[in-house]
Amino acid sequence: MCGIVAYLGDKEAQPVLLEGLRRLEYRGYDSSGIAVLNGKGLEVTKKVGRIQQLERVLAVRPLHGSLGISHTRWATHGKATDVNAHPHTDASGKLAIVHNGIIENYGILKKKLIDKGFQFRTETDTEVLAFLIGFHFDTLDTDTENRLEMAVMEALREVTGTYGLVAIHQDQPGLMVGARRGSPLVLGIGKHEHFLASDVSAMAAHTQTVAHLRDFDVVTIDRNGYRLKSLSQNKVGLEISKIDYQSGEAEMGDFPHFMLKEIFEQPISIQNAFRGRLNLDESTAQLGGLNLTPQDLREIDRIVITGCGTALHAGLVGEYIIESMAHVPVEIEWASEFRLRNSPMDRRTLVLAVSQSGETEDTLGALREARRKGHRVLGICNNVASTLARETDGGVYMYAGPEVSVAATKSFTSQVVIFALLALLLGRMRFLSASQGRGIIEAIEALPDQITQVLRQSAHIRKIAEKYRNANSMLFFGRQMQFGIALEGALKMKEITYIHAGGHPTAELKHGIIALVDEKTPSVFLCPKDGAYDKNINNLQQVKARKGPVIAVATEGNEEIRNHADDIIYIPDAPDFAAAILSVVPLQLFAYHMAVILGRDVDKPRNLAKSVTVP
Ligand code: G6P
Repeated sequence: MCGIVAYLGDKEAQPVLLEGLRRLEYRGYDSSGIAVLNGKGLEVTKKVGRIQQLERVLAVRPLHGSLGISHTRWATHGKATDVNAHPHTDASGKLAIVHNGIIENYGILKKKLIDKGFQFRTETDTEVLAFLIGFHFDTLDTDTENRLEMAVMEALREVTGTYGLVAIHQDQPGLMVGARRGSPLVLGIGKHEHFLASDVSAMAAHTQTVAHLRDFDVVTIDRNGYRLKSLSQNKVGLEISKIDYQSGEAEMGDFPHFMLKEIFEQPISIQNAFRGRLNLDESTAQLGGLNLTPQDLREIDRIVITGCGTALHAGLVGEYIIESMAHVPVEIEWASEFRLRNSPMDRRTLVLAVSQSGETEDTLGALREARRKGHRVLGICNNVASTLARETDGGVYMYAGPEVSVAATKSFTSQVVIFALLALLLGRMRFLSASQGRGIIEAIEALPDQITQVLRQSAHIRKIAEKYRNANSMLFFGRQMQFGIALEGALKMKEITYIHAGGHPTAELKHGIIALVDEKTPSVFLCPKDGAYDKNINNLQQVKARKGPVIAVATEGNEEIRNHADDIIYIPDAPDFAAAILSVVPLQLFAYHMAVILGRDVDKPRNLAKSVTVP
């Protein structure tokens, strides 16, 4: 969601900032803006809509200067409008800030400032923060050396809530001040230049040397370097690291959309998830990052999996996989619910937080709640430099490469593969035989080629999408491991086509959902050859009997299904957990083609953010 890029160096700031904002586009936003300091003072330009709209204005009236801040905003307080976009200025118009997060007590602060005679222009919490910093700045002596830094710190002492922010002021023209609490802010250290950004990708083209600010850190950057202070009693200190981030990986190449590129990357991303993690000699998996001894692993008697959106659906598939392979009871908890619940757990419970970005606020809230209560929390995450990666006790990285499209695809399949690895590891410590373990390994290793086979049906799936392009609503059905796939297929359809879609356990059809069936509502049945096949066909026929069109995802070689379904997409024959991974790929393609046919903004669907950093 909201993104921050700030620059101080030798170059012109505007092109550096715009390039950084484009790198953050994938996070989702509805307006953007930039502020630059130069000989004339502070200049601000902001625009609702895509970054191209901001660029068009800046092409006519460029902002010159080598110190600037910029932002992509995803509206929380106040509508998406030019005036509500960041940067926000203070009452004097000399100070500008960009801010991610939420100022929870902004109402009280605003009232105090109104009582002092200030007049606000927007309904945003960020403007209140700008005014508050400006107020403190103006009350400090004009010759105070660290005036902006002090003003930021004074203001933040009054604030409850979360922030990643950067402030600049025309009366202290050579510096910028950044601060963090709850919302990520990364310092980039280049040659004669420094960056502050909410995500390393925004600066990866310029520097690979970064340091993640910690909560309550305040950093002041000028031409000579940076200085760190803290709003807490914590010892100040930055951990500087080299990032291994190829900014080129996030290019679209020959694909028309990132989403299609990422769907087609799955044979490779899946391989990256299991490479080096299969132990053929012992027919098990090895996951060094868990930081757990074999004894610890044997003692786990319950697992709670938490996450949001697609990550939660992967967790649901993971629940079935772990329970069937390892016989360890698993529970799935929406992170947003879990963080507020007093879920009964004991020291043998393992919490698994799943997140592609590692920055989803609800997932971080859930993991912090579990850790506060003394539980061990592991992460399954793609972004190695994320807050989740830093705050968990260990975990498994996905190594899927950057996922840019808002709709998650390759991260889902990698997460499910990781659950299979974990289930194999736990299972082999319990009752799974070596030959069962070998069977699972073979099925995992076969996945990249099998996914390639499914991808070859993209044109066929596009034709199916054409056929149902006028649908207003769709139903997705699956049982057991395919239930999570039904939810994920429906989520993909909703996210990028805006067609209403529901995912259901197949047998629930008769408990209400069947009332939705008519000739205009397609039903997607996930019915590979598994233990539930006959039951699934039964349900499928109930839909057909009510004239509902049926699209079946079935196992290759199943000719009988042609008697029942209107359209069929075949997946290779595979064990249940692998069939779940194979079944989601056609649903990703179905949603993708439908979105393209309907002329939707595939990679940046309306109202959505790639990474939701507000609760
Ligand atoms: C947002 C995105 C979803 C994503 C979810 C969790 O809602 O729009 O696509 O699945 O966040 O994201 P995470 O980065 O935690 O996996």
